[in-house]
Amino acid sequence: MMTTRNLPPSTSKRIKMVSLVIVILILPIGVADRAQETSALTVTQNDGMDEDVQVDDDLDPEDLEVFQPTNQWQSLKPGQAVPAGSHVRLNLQTGEREAKLPDSIKETTGLNRNKVTAKDSHSFSAQELKEALKKLKEEAISSADEEAQAAVRSQYRPLEELKKDLEDLSAMMETDFQVMTRLVQQFNNSQASLEEKVTALLDLEYLVHQVDNAQDLISLGGLQLIINTLNSSEPILQEHAAFVLGSAVSSNPRVQVEAMEGGALQKLLLLLGTDQPLPVKKKALFALASLLRHFPFAQQHFLKLGGLQVLTALFRSRGSESLRVRVVTLLYDMIIEKELISQSGLDAVPDASHEERLRQYSQVALLPLLSEQGWCNLVPELLASPEHDMREKALRSILVIMTPCRDFYRQDSGLASFLTSIQEQYTALAESEREHGEDDGYFGELLALVESVLGKLR
Ligand SMILES: *[C@@H]1O[C@H](CO)[C@@H](O)[C@H](O)[C@H]1NC(C)=O
Ligand SMILES: *[C@@H]1O[C@H](CO)[C@@H](O)[C@H](O)[C@H]1NC(C)=O
Repeated sequence: MMTTRNLPPSTSKRIKMVSLVIVILILPIGVADRAQETSALTVTQNDGMDEDVQVDDDLDPEDLEVFQPTNQWQSLKPGQAVPAGSHVRLNLQTGEREAKLPDSIKETTGLNRNKVTAKDSHSFSAQELKEALKKLKEEAISSADEEAQAAVRSQYRPLEELKKDLEDLSAMMETDFQVMTRLVQQFNNSQASLEEKVTALLDLEYLVHQVDNAQDLISLGGLQLIINTLNSSEPILQEHAAFVLGSAVSSNPRVQVEAMEGGALQKLLLLLGTDQPLPVKKKALFALASLLRHFPFAQQHFLKLGGLQVLTALFRSRGSESLRVRVVTLLYDMIIEKELISQSGLDAVPDASHEERLRQYSQVALLPLLSEQGWCNLVPELLASPEHDMREKALRSILVIMTPCRDFYRQDSGLASFLTSIQEQYTALAESEREHGEDDGYFGELLALVESVLGKLR
């Protein structure tokens, strides 16, 4: 048997998604950092000159053409040096360095984030200019136009790289559809071991909880494969196939219809009506309940195919006592569902589909069949359980089948006396619940149910 289970494929995908988000968050910060480095470079070019710095010999100060600043911003030509006291800025929109004489009023700062302004404070020497230019060269922001533009472009390149990274990442990520395709193939592979097949089924079960995935299972041919597996000769495959089927049809009308057409109902009833290991029956019952829920067409066929007899025999059979409450729950849900639909019909604006649903539910005549097949007698058997939640289910079910069973219950003195005894028990439990400050406690609720049943028997 499986003791370990691989990470469901979606989990690993989710991990990849998380790292993708981190990449997206980090990269723009990286871009911003680079922009700051560039501006810092412009701002600090003349600050803190280190006398020990080796002067690059190919930059002779005598070769430098010196820029003549005016009151207007002018572009610096390649190789031009700037006199001390000039305002220098790098226009990040054009990529050009610009300089002018300082204004008498203070330069505005921070109003235009694209313009970086620097003030050269000390007097200007050839040595300082050389240093400044050397630094500029080292930082690849030379005063050459093309290079400055390249520098600007370099700030955007990471964005292109980011895009490419995203494409690569999404190419690496398996979509749920791809994962399911792989799992269906793995399951359908005649070379695969039993264990591999079970693993594939467990992973599929995880994925088909999503409505879209369950519908993709149909188009992949996986649903029919699963239905066919219900009568496999391997109980462990039957069990897990029923598990996948039950999850796929849950709250998914399209898959319910498809499963009906694929013959799932007959196969599930066959599993429940024949000698099978308990885990197989348990999952088959789960799949049956999911297939029938909110699907009157399937409920009708369930009754026509003798489904109720199958469940009656299952309830009575030795060895499947643990399934009894599930069987009763399934029947109880069917009755309540029909009642709710009929009630909502009273206040809802009647439309064609609602009329059709009402018509379909009207053909699901479960209640009279229940009393015919001895369920008036069977349901109270659940009361004998010492478990409160099982008794709760029994009490609620007795109330639901009261109409066809009332005469039967009135003659059953054993039922009345048993109900009286648990009434005393729950009175005491509800009392202590209230003493602990719980006014609407669970035992109070059970007591109300017992009293409601007793009231209907009088
Ligand atoms: C399963 O395998 C059989 C035989 O290899 C193939 O004919 C069939 O199409 C496969 N079914 C699916 C759903 O992949
Ligand atoms: C399962 O049922 C189908 C159709 O009812 C049948 O063709 C197939 O042989 C059965 N498989 C087993 C293992 O009984």
